[in-house]
Amino acid sequence: MKIEKAFLAIALLAAMLVQTVSASTIEDEITARIKKAGSVCLQGDDCGQATAGIATAANATGGADAIYKASCSTCHSIGVAGAPKLGNKDDWAPRISKGMDALYASIFNGIAPGMPARGLCFTCSDDDLKAVVDLMVEQSK
Ligand code: HEC
Repeated sequence: MKIEKAFLAIALLAAMLVQTVSASTIEDEITARIKKAGSVCLQGDDCGQATAGIATAANATGGADAIYKASCSTCHSIGVAGAPKLGNKDDWAPRISKGMDALYASIFNGIAPGMPARGLCFTCSDDDLKAVVDLMVEQSK
């Protein structure tokens, strides 16, 4: 009887371990999908770095890249709220065709409701932001 109980306990423990592993990957996926569109990501914060790392691996130098990772990747790496995804030509083609000045205007003013003014980087200068837009366009055509 005692041995049976011990066996049961071990079996239960093993089952729990297996469940924990799969639950955490599912949880990660869900978290990525339901990420709030309006979540604030300040420069220097570790926001969405994991996904952005893949998309921006091609250009890992310079301030624009750092700003992208800190401020923009939260939305633009996975397309939160319909944000054009970095590196996705189909997402970017119609936007690029509007011309760079239109894209700069969008980043300065935002596009309600999804795209926040200045991409939430309030420490960024106009030139910083233009450089990030240049980088996004460059990597997405
Ligand atoms: C909270 C989410 C979010 C953040 C943060 C964000 N964007 Fe966006 N962005 C969007 C969404 C959503 C759109 C699409 C808006 C639309 O067309 O309705 C967009 C569109 C754009 C466009 C295309 C504009 C156009 O005229 O077609 C550019 C360029 C852009 N974002 C740049 C940036 C840059 C640069 C940053 C960081 C400094 C940034 N975004 C941060 C959500 C975000």
